[in-house]
Amino acid sequence: MENNERDLVVGSDRFTIAIGLCTHLGCIPAWKKTQWKCACHGGEFNASGEQTFGPPPRPLDLPPFSVKGTEIVLGEEGPEYKKIAAAMKA
Ligand code: FES
Repeated sequence: MENNERDLVVGSDRFTIAIGLCTHLGCIPAWKKTQWKCACHGGEFNASGEQTFGPPPRPLDLPPFSVKGTEIVLGEEGPEYKKIAAAMKA
């Protein structure tokens, strides 16, 4: 799988940080083999949380986080969060 600027890379690991609620009307997408699928209205998101089909108007939302060593800490706006948030706005 290719790297995406929305992904978080820590060492040799790659993560998708996202709030797991569809950005259309808030249903919970389920992982189906290669993508997130929303059962409510057919929205789809790729592994990086970007909307690829249907009514979702934007990628899965990014919660504030920071990286401390090998830990991801939710609720703090660390430099990694700011970098990904800026890439999502571009
Ligand atoms: S709530 Fe997910 S597509 Fe409508």
